[in-house]
Amino acid sequence: MPHELDVDFWVAEFARNRLGRPEPRWSAPLKLDPSARPLLEQSLAEFQLGDGGGPAALIACDASVYRTSQPGLERVVDLWFEEEKEHSRLLGGLLRRYGVRPIEGHWSFSLFLLVRRWLGVRFELQALTLTELSSTAYYRLLRRHGGDPALHDVCSLILRDEAGHLRFQRARLEAAGAPWTGWKRFWWRSQFRVCGYAAAAVLWSSHGSCLRALGATASEFFGEAGRLFDAFVRRIERGAAASLSRAQAGVSQRLFAAKRLSG
Ligand SMILES: [Fe+2]
Ligand SMILES: [Fe+2]
Repeated sequence: MPHELDVDFWVAEFARNRLGRPEPRWSAPLKLDPSARPLLEQSLAEFQLGDGGGPAALIACDASVYRTSQPGLERVVDLWFEEEKEHSRLLGGLLRRYGVRPIEGHWSFSLFLLVRRWLGVRFELQALTLTELSSTAYYRLLRRHGGDPALHDVCSLILRDEAGHLRFQRARLEAAGAPWTGWKRFWWRSQFRVCGYAAAAVLWSSHGSCLRALGATASEFFGEAGRLFDAFVRRIERGAAASLSRAQAGVSQRLFAAKRLSG
């Protein structure tokens, strides 16, 4: 059932997430496989640009439609993107540690920005959600196989933030009325999965060589991404079922109280 997002809750969540964030072990001895290092450095440079390094904001031509759709939502969106900027800073720290110059632009990122700008905020929000799900799979594999202590710590901090962003995306979709019923539900789930695997395939086409060089496999990456897509959809449905039963319990309690008063 569509409802307003609890903006106070999300402002508090983003504030809470700023606490207890130790800096990565920047000065720990470097521990990287020399054969994988060039591919890792290239991959991290692209992520440093794409993960909060560009315009850290909703940039769709109609972005204000979403931002101003309820009081306080602009603040929540800004806090979300502040964390994205932080990801770029953390990845920049890794580039400095490895002696790599950040990149100023990349054709795939420019294309992503163009599509986000022109296809509208609804598309942009879904594209960002799917990017966050696919990137979560990427950072998990990087943390698992990377070896370097600072890389491990950066991935842990980003993964912690992205888990919160995915909770926010679910709350945003639930507020918009998800999960829908009947054919709308079928359509939404199908297109979400198809677009999700497309986003994962785009990520793998650019960064798969780095992940493979570190020891990860395509089936590990797509398995991780698939589990994330499924869990995301399942949690929306579970969340909606829980709020429906809470609402029904509230109605029954009110009916019971009314009967007692009248009797
Ligand atoms: Fe991010
Ligand atoms: Fe994010």
